Amino acid sequence: MWKDKLASQMDPDVLIIGGGVIGLSIARELHKTGVDRILLIEKAVCGAEASWAAAGMLGPQAETDDTGAFFDLCSASRDMYPGFSAELAAETGVEIGLDRQGTLYLAFSNEDHQHLLEKYKLQQQAGLDLEYLSREQVIDAEPNISPDVIGGLLFSNDWQVDNRKLCEALIKYAAVNNVEIRENTAALNVLVESGRVKGVETNAGPIQARTVILAAGAWSSVVGLGDGALPFDIKPVRGQILEFTTSVRSFRHVIYTPTGYIVPRADGRVLAGSTTEHAGFVKEVTENARTHLGHVAKEISPLLTDSHVTGSWSGLRPFVADGLPVLGPMPGGEGLIIAAGHYRNGILLAPITGKMIADLVTGESNADNFLPFGVDRFLTRRAGVA
Ligand code: FAD
Ligand code: GLY
Repeated sequence: MWKDKLASQMDPDVLIIGGGVIGLSIARELHKTGVDRILLIEKAVCGAEASWAAAGMLGPQAETDDTGAFFDLCSASRDMYPGFSAELAAETGVEIGLDRQGTLYLAFSNEDHQHLLEKYKLQQQAGLDLEYLSREQVIDAEPNISPDVIGGLLFSNDWQVDNRKLCEALIKYAAVNNVEIRENTAALNVLVESGRVKGVETNAGPIQARTVILAAGAWSSVVGLGDGALPFDIKPVRGQILEFTTSVRSFRHVIYTPTGYIVPRADGRVLAGSTTEHAGFVKEVTENARTHLGHVAKEISPLLTDSHVTGSWSGLRPFVADGLPVLGPMPGGEGLIIAAGHYRNGILLAPITGKMIADLVTGESNADNFLPFGVDRFLTRRAGVA
């Protein structure tokens, strides 16, 4: 007991800013690799922001438009999910609802069908696992889909997970393994001296640490950085979701279309998303979004009527101008590591981000392993840490 108390008063080896799925996955992976004193600080409550608001799709094939490095990163993280999910269940007793039924990518207009055919061609040429389904085959696979459907693609390897359960499991992992989490503790400024990180100034006073990981989601650019600034901006992009509830599960697959998606949960809930709005840090559900998402859902299935709406929420995606995450060491700020900007794919990218950042902290990898997602890509545009 006294040992635990003493440990929590000692300065951490690694301090993580942000208790979303990214910060929490990093904390777990660091602990698994044997890092001793890990402290995660969270300005409010862990797992209550974008990681809570998300739809939980693990969809590299549906959600990326080409097959470059970002697609490879997403696919590699998706491939980690079966092991990640089984390990978390064994470690915490929490099942994160990994569902491998696959994703149907559907077209309801000729224009969208054209886009679908182009996607099919591109992915087929890249040797990916996908199948074209005619209208009849789509309806066979999903009897509750609108008869207006024109055709679809089946991505058997695009899955879904219950992102709220995932957060619960990661928080529990920290609790059972004495990884310290301090909620209601906001990082104000990363303390930097002569180009080296010394710790973090928080609303509860300074905390010293030689390694600081910035994983504050959409708020990452708000945290001060000595006399300098991050050479990139992370902006909040709001996404809203409308939740329907049907008495039994009415769809097997995640259904994705160029205008929106529905994600069926095992308990009969169906999440319809989403919007992409530059509305600052204002989290609200708007009438416009309700109407729009109602149309998206109805276009996909006439089963999803207004009378089935049981909830709605919004969350802030962390967005960087080029749409890619920012991962790896901060040049000129020794000891500072960035893990932010996961935009639409932070749930998908959580396992690989945890692994990549833990490998960096323990010296298993270096900045080169983070290309093309590293901070370097912004450095010609703005100055780094003072
Ligand atoms: P967050 O979950 O936002 O966590 C950041 C944490 O940092 C917060 O808890 C915050 O309070 C804390 N924090 C901020 N500032 C400070 C500070 N100064 N000090 C201490 N703590 C601080 N991704 C997918 O992969 N699949 C999906 O289907 C999907 N659907 C989505 C649907 C919607 C509507 C939205 C909004 C997002 C969706 N995403 C999806 C994206 C995904 O939710 C995000 O990319 C991911 O949650 C980002 O995780 P994070 O930990 O970086 O951010
Ligand atoms: N990845 C789904 C979304 O961001 O809405």
